[in-house]
Parts: sequence; C-alpha cells; structure tokens
Amino acid sequence: MNVEWFYAQQHGDARGQLVSLEENKEIPFNIKRVYYIYDTLEGVRRGFHAHKELKQLLICIHGTCKVLLDDGYDKEIVSLDEPNKGIFIQSNIWREMYDFSPDAVLLVLASEIYDESDYIRDYEQFIRYVKGN
Ligand code: TYD
Repeated sequence: MNVEWFYAQQHGDARGQLVSLEENKEIPFNIKRVYYIYDTLEGVRRGFHAHKELKQLLICIHGTCKVLLDDGYDKEIVSLDEPNKGIFIQSNIWREMYDFSPDAVLLVLASEIYDESDYIRDYEQFIRYVKGN
C-alpha cells in the first residue's frame, strides 16, 4: 500500500523534546496547508474519503488515534500514538480516523490547499476510480 511510516528526529536534551519538520527535507513535498483535529468526541469516526492528488502526513502529536487505510485492494489499520511518529498517505487511499483519545491532537501536513474537487467521498466511487472503471 502507498503509505509509509515516518519517524521524526527528536532534538531532545535535558529540557525535553523538540521536533522540526521542513518541506522537501523531512517532508517530501511542499507543505501548502496545515490543519489539526482535536476535542474529538468519544466514538467519532471521521475522514471517509480519498484524495485524487493530495499527499498528507498525519501525526498524533498528543494522545492517540487509529487510522484505517484502504487502497481498494488491501486494508491496513495503524495506530498513531507517539508525537514523533506519523504516517505518510499518498493519493488514492481511503482513510477513516477513529478511536481518538479525549486528549488527541491529530496534526496533518498537506501538499495542497483545501480543494473539495480533489475529494472522493463515496466509497463505491473510490473503488471504481482506483480500479479504472
Ligand atoms: P471534513 O472534510 O469533514 O473533515 P474529515 O475528513 O477529517 O472528517 O472537514 C470538516 C470541515 O472543515 C468541512 O466543513 C470542511 C472544512 N475544512 C476546511 O475548511 N479546510 C480543510 O483544510 C479541511 C481539512 C476541512
């Protein structure tokens, strides 16, 4: 599947930790947008879409959550549970985020500005799109 774990270098010292993420360095794309999801209510599941072009890096920088990833052929569930660990998601991957701890802050770095026309929000349409019919 076109997803990859990401481990950020931690600049730790006696004071604590610091992580820095630069576009085209640690992050293999131009960062055109940053957003974060927090105060997620118990039991909420969100996402339910794929992107035609957008690439994203997801890091749960506080708390924990899970992500279901689906490329139309295989499904994978990943746990985001460390502030220095993330998952790169390429285009054409269906994602659902769930099991958010009450303190979860899910940070997303995105390769494009928000564009609703890049979304595929219907699962059957997603399957048709990736399977080319
Ligand atoms: P939504 O797509 O439902 O989030 P998710 O896929 O994570 O469940 O987005 C919620 C709202 O926020 C929706 O009205 C669109 C808006 N939004 C933006 O304005 N900019 C953004 O970058 C994102 C991701 C969402």
